[in-house]
Amino acid sequence: MTDLGLVASSCGGLDTRFTAELARPASARGWRLAITLTPTAGRWLETTGGLEDLAATTDLPVRMVGRLPGEPRPHPDPRVFLFAPASANSIAKLALGIADNQALTLLGDVLGAPGITIAVAYQVQDTRVRHPAWQRHLDTLAAAGVRLLRLDPRRSWSVALDLLPAPE
Ligand SMILES: Cc1cc2nc3c(=O)[nH]c(=O)nc-3n(C[C@H](O)[C@H](O)[C@H](O)COP(=O)(O)O)c2cc1C
Repeated sequence: MTDLGLVASSCGGLDTRFTAELARPASARGWRLAITLTPTAGRWLETTGGLEDLAATTDLPVRMVGRLPGEPRPHPDPRVFLFAPASANSIAKLALGIADNQALTLLGDVLGAPGITIAVAYQVQDTRVRHPAWQRHLDTLAAAGVRLLRLDPRRSWSVALDLLPAPE
């Protein structure tokens, strides 16, 4: 099985769609999931009770916080990453190199690294798209080789899986 770094932030629908439309279908396609949530996304799933269903899609722990110094690294080092759903907030931070949580630390460490594939599927309000820095953030990520897709809330999030290469 090929490892996939699957990262999610707190976008509307996370509690009902992330496991059903991304984690489970990715696992069914042959990916072994190393899942990391932003702290807010983690809090949402902890509150709705969706965390157990998500955890059942992988043999690896679902991460929400960074490890303590001296603790072993709980995940392998995937060569392929999918950040979906990605919020406007997390897109901006990733493009600027801000790593103030485990999800952004992980992605920031591999962004631009040779041999790494990163796909980012974002779900954002039109109000965010009008922000003067928004297009610059997307351009920064695209210039680093990131495969980008804007999620349409009316369509299944599973379309994001088509951004990935076939698992080896
Ligand atoms: C119910 C709800 C739905 C939200 N949906 C989105 C969304 O689809 N896209 C987005 O960019 N932000 C959305 N937000 C705002 C983010 O959750 C907020 O900006 C948060 O700080 C993002 O943190 P994160 O990127 O670390 O997960 C939503 C907030 C709430 C309360």
